[in-house]
Amino acid sequence: MKVTIVGAGSVGSSCAEYIAIKDIADEIVLLDIKEGFAEGKSLDLMQTSSSLGFNAQIFGVTSDYEKTKSSDVVVITSGIPRKPGMTREELIGINAGIVDSVTENLLIHSPDAIIIVVSNPMDTMTYLVVKKTGLPRNRVIGMGGILDSSRFKTYISIALNNEPQKNIDAMVIGGHGDTTMIPLTDNAKVNDIPLSDLLSTDEISKISSDTMVGGATLTKLLGTSAWYAPGASVAFLVKSILNDSKELLPCSVMLNGEYNFKDLCIGVPCIIGANGLEEIIEIKLNDINKERFQKSVEAVRRTNLTLKGLI
Ligand code: LAC
Repeated sequence: MKVTIVGAGSVGSSCAEYIAIKDIADEIVLLDIKEGFAEGKSLDLMQTSSSLGFNAQIFGVTSDYEKTKSSDVVVITSGIPRKPGMTREELIGINAGIVDSVTENLLIHSPDAIIIVVSNPMDTMTYLVVKKTGLPRNRVIGMGGILDSSRFKTYISIALNNEPQKNIDAMVIGGHGDTTMIPLTDNAKVNDIPLSDLLSTDEISKISSDTMVGGATLTKLLGTSAWYAPGASVAFLVKSILNDSKELLPCSVMLNGEYNFKDLCIGVPCIIGANGLEEIIEIKLNDINKERFQKSVEAVRRTNLTLKGLI
């Protein structure tokens, strides 16, 4: 199986690393516009192969889309990352043009690939790709909810004295934005016990707000946006597609009446398999979360409006 990752920055190269280490694909192409950069990252990564014991081949190329030919999955991480104090939405002007041309080039050489969108503002970039390409919605998936859910689980784990995260079942839906994401605290469970039986309302609400600003917290600490958890989240999504494992993952996909909305991409629980999006699962939301979802939809739609002229 072949995966192309566009953007050899920290997110793209971490993603390549995890895909290789976890034996998710046997061929990985890293592409970047910066001369020699993807080649350097790939060579460095290939030199971890004997120590880490993986067999995947990683190739780096500078803007040579020919080498991405016949990829099964393509991942778009390109664009500028946010700096401290910036929202994801502020990146739209520059990133929309980049995502648009990258998608066009990728599809010339891999017309059947499933596209994963990571560039921010992610929900709007995913929408842009669906609208511009006219591809069926199962083939365009935005990655944000898996990352936000992994932050949610981490904060739950910390609050429970480092409870192993494999015992935690928790999901974040809605937009991938500091004010638009919705950590589903009522549905969260640890070893099948509702979170509300284990922690106080105040503790749960702190976990929820820490999750929502999870990306901004890291941006402040690191001076740029995070990469390990975003890279791992993409790798997990790619694995579910290539192994056809039909994981239930929150992803940003085009709604067509689900949750009572249509014509936007936003995070909802999805079954992910060989066809990409296999099914959207409509879980029952309580009234508060229904209202939050509606607000999240409105905010994502406002950001989508800035694509006028492009789609
Ligand atoms: C984050 C960026 C990748 O949340 O959106 O870290």
